[in-house]
Amino acid sequence: MCGIVGFIGDEPAAPVVLKALIKLEYRGYDSAGMVSICDGKIHFRKDAGKITDVQRKHRLDRLPGKIAVGHVRWATHGRADRINAHPHFDCKKQIAVVHNGIIENYQELRAALVGKHRFASEVDTEVICHLIEDYMEAGASLEKALLKAVGELRGSYALVVVSSREPEKIVATSKDSPLIVGLDDGKYFVASDALSFLDRTNEVVFLEEGELVSLTRDGAFFLNREGEEIRKKSQRVDWQWEEASKKGYDFFMLKEILEQPEAMRRALIQDRKLIMEFAKEIWEARRVVITACGTSRHVALLASYLFSRLAGKLCDVVTASEFQYFCDSIAEDTLVIAISQSGETADVIEGVKRAKAKGARVFSIINVVGSLLTRISDRAIYLNCGPEIGVAATKSFLCQLVIFYMLAFALMGKLEEGIEKLEQVARQIGDNLNDEKLKKLARRMKNKNNFYYMARGLNLAIAAEGALKLKEISYIHAECMPAGELKHGTLALIEEGTPVVAICPKDDTFYETLNNVMEIKARGGFVIGVSDENNEVYDHWIKIPKMEEIFYPLVAIMPLQLLAYHLAAARGKDPDRPRHLAKSVTVK
Ligand code: AGP
Repeated sequence: MCGIVGFIGDEPAAPVVLKALIKLEYRGYDSAGMVSICDGKIHFRKDAGKITDVQRKHRLDRLPGKIAVGHVRWATHGRADRINAHPHFDCKKQIAVVHNGIIENYQELRAALVGKHRFASEVDTEVICHLIEDYMEAGASLEKALLKAVGELRGSYALVVVSSREPEKIVATSKDSPLIVGLDDGKYFVASDALSFLDRTNEVVFLEEGELVSLTRDGAFFLNREGEEIRKKSQRVDWQWEEASKKGYDFFMLKEILEQPEAMRRALIQDRKLIMEFAKEIWEARRVVITACGTSRHVALLASYLFSRLAGKLCDVVTASEFQYFCDSIAEDTLVIAISQSGETADVIEGVKRAKAKGARVFSIINVVGSLLTRISDRAIYLNCGPEIGVAATKSFLCQLVIFYMLAFALMGKLEEGIEKLEQVARQIGDNLNDEKLKKLARRMKNKNNFYYMARGLNLAIAAEGALKLKEISYIHAECMPAGELKHGTLALIEEGTPVVAICPKDDTFYETLNNVMEIKARGGFVIGVSDENNEVYDHWIKIPKMEEIFYPLVAIMPLQLLAYHLAAARGKDPDRPRHLAKSVTVK
């Protein structure tokens, strides 16, 4: 949450930062702001709203100078208004700070600073401005002042700072929030996501916890937390910015849903040796715990069914935000598998750190190359599905599943056979998809306020994911449950016309799920059946292709993603920017 871009070069910096910042809008759209330095003076503009609206109103790109830093905000502390928008300043407006993260001890710090300093906002970030101010007043350089200031902070931060007192540099540091430096021949970027500047340079340096970078026109200088200069190697990021453009679609989400067959083929291109080694460790571990949040957690759920069914290996799934409460049972013989599209979800990072502290091995399944999670894991598998920009995860979900199918086949010693079968599934994913019919259904259902999703076995995670997609982008309440659980409470909520989506393919779950569908029907529910076969009990049939039964989840998800998308569209909601949400959740 929150996106940051800083640029220093030999050209007007504000247009460069604006262009890069727009690409980071997925990280926050509550407010936006920019600060530049020109002729030794600070200039800034900021306001509530999306970056494009703030630009339209305030012309951020007209800020003068060749040094600029911008920010898009996802609000944590303080309302989403102009006052709380970044940048924030010290008392004399000589130091400007933008921040991604949360300062947990900001109330104590603020209480200690408030007598001496004037606070202008409600945000936690402002304490950092005043701490730097004090250290600079005492004679520290901007770099040293920032290092000393972060020494007093508890929490997570990516901080980018400029000051009119040392006007020829941008200084940045981070802890548990990503910052990536881009090197472009005398021009330098620092940003929350390399995607923002990949149209300019692919050469990057990842800032590790506690490190600081000072960007001047003479180069990027790195310091460790003690303030000693260190050397860091740059690396190339292979992603191209074009992969993250809408390519003619109205929304990223739709583009990403429809490119899933290709994404799945790309996910299948993996180093076989790595998959086999990964599987071997899964097999040998005394305990396997899979941890993730949101959509990625649904993948974990399906993975646990898959490992049990195909390989007889029992795994636990622990929601990453709850991981710490299970830590007592994590030990050296535990293997933790972390799943994260972004590789920077704070709860996942925290869980992984705790697991490592207990001596557990950590494997990760990640999409964003070089992300924090990659760097703290013992091994990582990448999804290779390209950037996912829509806040609602779609193609990353499918590709994460694909990796777990590969691992499950590897556990059975049948990796090659599994890959062949999965390649065949990739060819069938969109078969029988009737988008017009889904649109019509969405128009019919758009005024419903509650949806229920149900399934059994492997398909349960698909139902859960369908419900999550619906609620996050259309704001319709949606609940998922194992079909057999209905009668233990939820059935009381079924009324005449209540929509219930049942994932009911012709697999081992079919007859029992169908019985539960009948129970819904008997109480007046409107049944949307997702199946390869029609049934008279369905009020609406969503047809999926016939498959070998373990693969039904892979073909059942796309129509549910599309249904959620069309319902959001029918209700006039923006699926790429759902309210209160952000793509990367870097706060706990
Ligand atoms: C899904 O549509 C959401 N955007 C959200 O649940 C997401 O899956 C979750 O925040 C985890 O993100 P990650 O995979 O990047 O860790």
